Order: sequence, then structure tokens, then C-alpha cells
Amino acid sequence: MLLNTVENVKNNILEWKKQGYTIGLVPTMGALHAGHLSLIKKAKETCDKVVVSVFVNPIQFGPSEDYDKYPRTLDADTKLCDSEGVDIVFAPSAEEMYGKGQRLSNDTLTYVCPPFFYVNKLCGKTRTGHFDGVCTVVLKLFNIVQPDKAFFGQKDAQQVVIIRKMVNDLNVPIEIIQCPIVREDSGLALSSRNKYLSDDGKKDALVLSKILNNVKLCYKKGITDISSLKETAYAFLTDKHDLEYLEFVDKNTLDDKIKADDSTIVLIACRVEGVRLIDNLYLGEC
Ligand code: PAF
Repeated sequence: MLLNTVENVKNNILEWKKQGYTIGLVPTMGALHAGHLSLIKKAKETCDKVVVSVFVNPIQFGPSEDYDKYPRTLDADTKLCDSEGVDIVFAPSAEEMYGKGQRLSNDTLTYVCPPFFYVNKLCGKTRTGHFDGVCTVVLKLFNIVQPDKAFFGQKDAQQVVIIRKMVNDLNVPIEIIQCPIVREDSGLALSSRNKYLSDDGKKDALVLSKILNNVKLCYKKGITDISSLKETAYAFLTDKHDLEYLEFVDKNTLDDKIKADDSTIVLIACRVEGVRLIDNLYLGEC
């Protein structure tokens, strides 16, 4: 069932809560692919009712980012959700989410601001305000849908750590489930932004997963010095790649690592054909 208003969603949720159903929420920005599908399947396996939100959230995009051209494929997304047995697809307008005539700025709108330490690194370093926008919309979705569990992809690993921190710090009674990255056979992590790449660009984009796999291989051989690991990684880059970062941080706290160990997550962001791509890999268990 496709719903566009907060009120209609809340009415259904009220009914489900009365019946004692557990509710799973899969927050998305649409342009659904197999990565999202894995989240939906996990939600279906573990919850009685599943809500997928489809909302390209304006307040998590910077002024020079791709908000306007972000792929919007609501018909296909709804069909896919229907075929997976999703109970509600919630696709509100920006006005429905933030109010008619509301200026989308933290001068006039209440924002959730995750801690500086968590946002001042990795993607947050170049995407100023991005995680404020993410946490704000995610908390709003949590309040609207009141799920027992919410499902997020590991591809946005920094996002998941920050959402877990928000949930913990603000006593939000929702379990955050992180699901593994889904990749093409080539190794390319699935992303709605892969649509922007040409065939050659997709080949060049394999550098992200190649670097991560090579780092893990070197680590398994006993190399723990981060400068050495970075050095081998840089050898994969050509003039087709504009590396934004390659970082080694603690998988739970995002603290910088001095030496690589099993609690390390390696994260990379790199532009290919001007498209900003991210990927990551745990050196130990997730
Ligand atoms: O990961 C995303 O697609 C978005 O950041 C999210 C969590 C749906 C919030 O808009």
C-alpha cells in the first residue's frame, strides 16, 4: 500500500500496535536495488509488518550535491515492494515531512545534531551537515512509524554508527540492524549512484573493492602498519580515480586506528567520472 501522508501511516501503525504486531522499518531514498532488497527481506523475516520509506531527504544534501538529479523511480520501487510483500511504502513529499512553506535550515527547523567527533571525519568531512540531515529525518521516521527494528546497509557504515549513537544517546527504543553490503559479481558495491556511471566508469569503479580486498589480504599476511597498507592501496589508483579518503577506524566508535586490528573497518570514498562512490570492509568479524 502506497501512502503519502504521516496521518495515514500513523493510523495504520496504531491499528498494528493494537494487534501486537512487530514493525520493521527500512528507510530509503528510493531507486531501490538488490542492496535495499536484502534489507527488506531481512525485515520481512524478523517482523510481522514492514514499512519502507522512500524519501529523497533535501536536508541531507549540500548545495552543490545531487539532490535534484538523484534518481526517483517511485513506480518501480512500489512494484518491487509489493512483490516482496511490504505492507506500507511511505513516500511523503518534502512539505509533508517538514511543513508547508518551511525554510529547510537549522535557523527555523529543529535538527538532530550528532556529535562533532563522529561527523567531523570520513564522509562528514566534505559533506558538512549531511549527518544532521540524516539523523533528523531518521528520527522523524522513527517517530512516525514507531518500529521495533530499523534496517540499514553496511555500505553507509559511518551512517549506521551515527544512528546507533543517536538511538543510544536519546534512548530511542528501536533496534538497529545492519545488513551486509550487496555487490555485483564484479565486486562493485550496489548503490543508487552507480546509475550515473558509464560502462567504462563501472570498470574504473572496481578500484574501491580491489583496494579494500588488497588491504585485507595484506592484513591477513600480517601487515598492520597503516601507512604501509595505504601505500599498497595507492598503487591501484590511476588518473581515472579521485580519492577522497582511505581511512582505518574502529568499527564501533570511528576512532582512528594507530595499527590495523580485527576491530578495524577500512573505509574508502573515491570519485569516478565525477560520481562520489563509497565502500568499506571489516578486517575482522562484523
Ligand atoms: O541511507 C539512506 O538512503 C539515507 O541516508 C536514509 C537513511 C534513508 C535517510 O534519508
